[in-house]
Amino acid sequence: MAGPIHPKLLPITTTFSDEGRTFVGGRDVCEIAEEFGTPLFLYDEHHLRQRCRDALWAFGSGVAYGSKAFLCLAMAKLVDEEGLHIDVASAGEAYTALRAGVPAARLVMHGNNKSTAELTYALERGIGRIVVDSVDELERLARLGGFGHPKPKVLLRVTPGVKAHTHEFMATGHEDQKFGLSIEGGAATDAVLRCRGEGSGVELVGIHCHIGSQIFDAESYAKTIAIVAPFFIPLGLPELVVGGGLGAPYVEEEVDGVPTFAEWAAAINRAVKEAGISGVVRLGVEPGRSIAANAAMTVYRVGTIKTLPEIRTYVSIDGGMSDNPRPALYGSGYEAFLPRNGTAERSRPVRIVGKHCETGDVLINEAWVPDDIHVGDLLATPATGAYGYTMANNYNKLPRPAVVFVHDSTARVVVRRETYDDLLRLDSL
Ligand SMILES: Cc1ncc(COP(=O)(O)O)c(C=O)c1O
Repeated sequence: MAGPIHPKLLPITTTFSDEGRTFVGGRDVCEIAEEFGTPLFLYDEHHLRQRCRDALWAFGSGVAYGSKAFLCLAMAKLVDEEGLHIDVASAGEAYTALRAGVPAARLVMHGNNKSTAELTYALERGIGRIVVDSVDELERLARLGGFGHPKPKVLLRVTPGVKAHTHEFMATGHEDQKFGLSIEGGAATDAVLRCRGEGSGVELVGIHCHIGSQIFDAESYAKTIAIVAPFFIPLGLPELVVGGGLGAPYVEEEVDGVPTFAEWAAAINRAVKEAGISGVVRLGVEPGRSIAANAAMTVYRVGTIKTLPEIRTYVSIDGGMSDNPRPALYGSGYEAFLPRNGTAERSRPVRIVGKHCETGDVLINEAWVPDDIHVGDLLATPATGAYGYTMANNYNKLPRPAVVFVHDSTARVVVRRETYDDLLRLDSL
């Protein structure tokens, strides 16, 4: 048995009518879903902007939005308008941001295996920072240095050896993984020497680390800073970036455990001070999910309800692992509610599954929904604004959903729904 969906999982502007109908940005969620179809990613634009502003206020000008969480032209433009830099993890993400009009100097390029073509792209466009992840990448940059581009400003991504408490595939601070240069093993020092050597073709401006994602304990960052500081301080560099990973609540049990941006910033600043890092060092963070996750919900249509006596009830929706692969990938939890009555008690235990040809196409393993759920209902899963649409795929040739932004009672499509023709646009006979 569960109560009504927790408001902290929902976009900031969510309200309910006396009958429980759910409104986001002043619009009725059911009406929007009827108008634009399902499955639908529905974003509260005010929420996105407010989170950007809160991050900027808390952390200062060193904030870069981790765009892998959610990126499209409208999002890149919004983030830029709000004054954040943008962290891109490929030339494709960089291309998207540039096409949205974001100045190249505002981009930070990541990636553990940037190709020569991607690095050339970054150099030609004048991308603001490149976060170097390997010695091979430094060699590539040295070779490209002779081609007349201004020297790129680079940060070195180091592995501090911190084991963050999160899913194995979301932890990136420990030694045994593909990202970064080990401080303990000496690779980070070797990379610094190469950067500073003759003909490196780069200007080393800082150190970067990222310990993982969906982190709830600010102490993980404090620990990281304490470990990185003895390596960082003697280098005398002007920039230190502690990465992203600030947690977002996906399920009710998580809503009270999430620090605010101000609390994260206080813990990070305290750790920086205690570690003896100079006050003039520019501190950077790269929040992704903590900006985008709770700004959105996915709205589905219930297609079948199957009750297996003495086993369970399966509720099938018209999407699944193609629009949200996170449950299958990480075992991530979500909650569900019916937007036609968002204040209803959720007393019926069900398993919510998608429409894909996979037994593992389970969206919510043990969900609670209102007792009167029926075929044809609209069902929403909150907190799907990060790593939802960006991880969406066409498995079983399902067209990817539309993305709609709602603001001041106006809903607009920012990414249209794919058509069957879109599915074949790369094919030839
Ligand atoms: C280097 C880097 N920065 C920032 C992020 C954003 O993480 P999150 O969305 O958890 O804040 C990631 C995520 O993988 C990352 O790898």
